[in-house]
Amino acid sequence: MTFQNGFLWGGATAANQCEGAWNIDGKGASICDHNRAGSLTKQRVFDREILEDEYYPSHTAIDFYHHYKEDIALFGEMGFKVFRISIAWSRIFPNGDDAEPNEAGLAFYDKVFAECLKHGIEPLVTLSHFEIPYNLVKKYNGFSDRRVVDFFVRYATTVMERYKDKVTYWLTFNEVNFATLPFGALNVLGMLDDRTEDIFNPVDNKQERFQALHNVFVASAKTVVEGHKINQDFQIGCMIAHATSYPLTPNPEDVLLTQRWDNHFNNFCGDVQVKGEYPYFIKQYFAENDIDIHFEEGDKDILKRGTVDFYSFSYYMTNCISAESGKEMTMGNLVGGVKNPYLKSSEWGWQIDPVGLRYTLNKLYDRYQVPLMIVENGLGAEDTMNETGEIIDDYRIDYLRDHVIAMSDAIDDGVELMGYTMWGCIDLISAGTGEMKKRYGFIYVDRDNEGKGTLARCKKKSFDWYKEVIATNGKSV
Ligand code: BG6
Repeated sequence: MTFQNGFLWGGATAANQCEGAWNIDGKGASICDHNRAGSLTKQRVFDREILEDEYYPSHTAIDFYHHYKEDIALFGEMGFKVFRISIAWSRIFPNGDDAEPNEAGLAFYDKVFAECLKHGIEPLVTLSHFEIPYNLVKKYNGFSDRRVVDFFVRYATTVMERYKDKVTYWLTFNEVNFATLPFGALNVLGMLDDRTEDIFNPVDNKQERFQALHNVFVASAKTVVEGHKINQDFQIGCMIAHATSYPLTPNPEDVLLTQRWDNHFNNFCGDVQVKGEYPYFIKQYFAENDIDIHFEEGDKDILKRGTVDFYSFSYYMTNCISAESGKEMTMGNLVGGVKNPYLKSSEWGWQIDPVGLRYTLNKLYDRYQVPLMIVENGLGAEDTMNETGEIIDDYRIDYLRDHVIAMSDAIDDGVELMGYTMWGCIDLISAGTGEMKKRYGFIYVDRDNEGKGTLARCKKKSFDWYKEVIATNGKSV
């Protein structure tokens, strides 16, 4: 096993999926607070107004807000070097456009970061993880309004200034490339058109959506530039949902379609954020779809100056692409694809592909030549407690082991990999379905899909396995 000294082993979460306390200490509602629970077969429902009798999983989640000391102590016990969390934007600026930040919100993260550092854990902070203040959605239609760029940069610089001595690693927008699909309009861009009834299949206006994405690129680049002024040691990364896809067959049509998808979904946003300019291939897509991006004066320059220090991404599964219709389809991380006959799937239909991780790491390093970090990877599974109260999650250990080996292989190939934060290191609310029973954690949380349970924490078998992996810098895997 080849992992350099100082390899950042750890875990990842997001505020809306674990904090709870959705309206405590001055926090405003974010888009997530309007999302009801669903399941594999039942889509989540988004309510424009929060209804009294409905259950919204983010409102309590796993109550990390009141359990952070206990949870971080457990991460410390596992030997985490890094803990990825997001700051809930609406805890700092409850409405997004407030004149002053909310001191109680700032004070909360002071305590969280101090607790991390006490346990020798570096925080890695996502500034926007699908949790835009709802007021910005209602009043401005999110990033479609250029003023929201300034609100974001003010929020980002406020927290960077406040935590400059506690936090070195930052990510701007979680899975920003979901904005290249209609689904990402609300999650990433905060756009909720009045005509939209079904947020999973919104009335799509590509011109508006890609203009809003441009505004997000500008917000991200400005944050990188301003962040480096606040502390030149800051390491600021982009975050891409990498949906690696293979052609189903050697049919050149399959190969071409796969390349087009790869460029559109996987490469476009990363290229802008790492290379500082729009890639050649997007011009064709814009021409085909009558999209004309308005660059304000200085935008070109800011994109060039605000390139990221490292490239981070999520990796859970791979899919296939076929030019022929009627192929058997499978599920995925918000985007699915054609079933691969060589791969097994998780209970939620995500195809498990550790070799694909080695392939993806090589592909990305070849493209960007900047340090890479895997900030999400893991297995969502239904865990059960045996008669003696243990959770023997060997299936999770198997999944993680294979992916750790793939990382090590990629490092041997010459890839520069900074670290690995396993997604959902403590059980949390699923983003896709809102379920609690889709568990990723090393730590079990007693809470069910209806919000019942004591919220007690307990270690799974994988807890000790990961502790050993970290202690031996991967050798024990
Ligand atoms: C990523 C998100 O898309 O996938 C996370 O950044 C999310 O927020 C993760 O939780 C896993 O997806 P799910 O639907 O299993 O929670």
